[in-house]
Amino acid sequence: MLLIIVAYTVPKLTDYSAAALEQAAGECIAACVTDAQSVRNDAELKAFRDRWMARKNGILTQINDLWLKGAPKDAKREAGRCVNQIKADVERTIETAENLLLERSTGVRLTTEDIDITLPGVRRPIGAEHAILKTSREIVSVFRQLGYSVSEGPVVETDYYNFEALNFPPNHPARDTQDTLFIAGQQSKPQRERLLLRTHTSPVQIRTMEKMKPPIRIVIPGTVHRNDPPDASHSPMFHQIEGLAVDTNITFGDLKGTLDHAMKALFGSSVKTHFRPSFFPFTEPSAELYVTCFICGGSGKREGNAPCRPCKQTGWIEVLGCGMVDPNVFEFVKDNGYDPKKVSGFAFGMGVDRLALLKYGVDDLQYFYQGDVRFLQQFG
Ligand code: PHE
Repeated sequence: MLLIIVAYTVPKLTDYSAAALEQAAGECIAACVTDAQSVRNDAELKAFRDRWMARKNGILTQINDLWLKGAPKDAKREAGRCVNQIKADVERTIETAENLLLERSTGVRLTTEDIDITLPGVRRPIGAEHAILKTSREIVSVFRQLGYSVSEGPVVETDYYNFEALNFPPNHPARDTQDTLFIAGQQSKPQRERLLLRTHTSPVQIRTMEKMKPPIRIVIPGTVHRNDPPDASHSPMFHQIEGLAVDTNITFGDLKGTLDHAMKALFGSSVKTHFRPSFFPFTEPSAELYVTCFICGGSGKREGNAPCRPCKQTGWIEVLGCGMVDPNVFEFVKDNGYDPKKVSGFAFGMGVDRLALLKYGVDDLQYFYQGDVRFLQQFG
């Protein structure tokens, strides 16, 4: 087999007339195009590119030295134009050779004309934290700064942790207020082992006290479920944050001071708090905590004397349930150091979704769950 290598040698120019330059340039480009046709693989492409573009002794460099630097003064301009033209043509020829090679290996057709590298690329949208989780994280961080640690528990819970150990005896009417979703097919099990979707984060109080001895300070964020049809203020799944502090000599004053501080940290230092008596089987005494409405500032009125809707014109918004841990609850974890005669504690539980609604002035809870990016983006 005969292998012919068409080597191109840069000739010395003696004639610098426009016609002669054009002729020399034409021969040079023709040689480059022929050379390009011999490129079969990446190694050959590299050799080809080096042959023409190498700074040191590449053909373009030689042309620059011989034709441009060697040109008589009055021909410099014309020679410069010619050399620039050659450069552009050689670069385009190399690019075409690269594309042809790529096309052959990938099957994708690329020509210089097909791609406009000045077009913006594909931008992947950056995700953002959901408004509810953001609110949850903010609340948790207020308590972390007070020295509380964070705990979690299962969403599918047993009757024992969700009710019995929280002092809801079997068949007690207080269970009815929790609109519980039960897991089907559990009837053959003893009641305390039956599974359900936890209706509050309070079962994690018991789970934590089983594992950790007093003193404890803990917050528990999580999802809970209740059999409520979805509407502007209800969702069958929502978020709570539970708090529990147990030590010797914990008083209702500690509960009030802690929650007052937390509300001011969350909603601003001008917010006032107010406790009203309530009932929960696992706290005694129990209370609901209200804060001055942060929409109307407590007046119950908006601009132009319009009624304030979030607080129903009362100037107060209920934010959580709380109370002193009922001694009956400690009885269930007595063996782990929670002797109701020796320790006392307080607990609270708040609905994060409702707080997020109020915080962001959103009037329908469903927006948070419909996944409409236009809505969610506003909190990113
Ligand atoms: N678990 C109660 C609820 O979901 C709130 C609560 C928690 C009340 C802790 C008192 C103490 O309604």
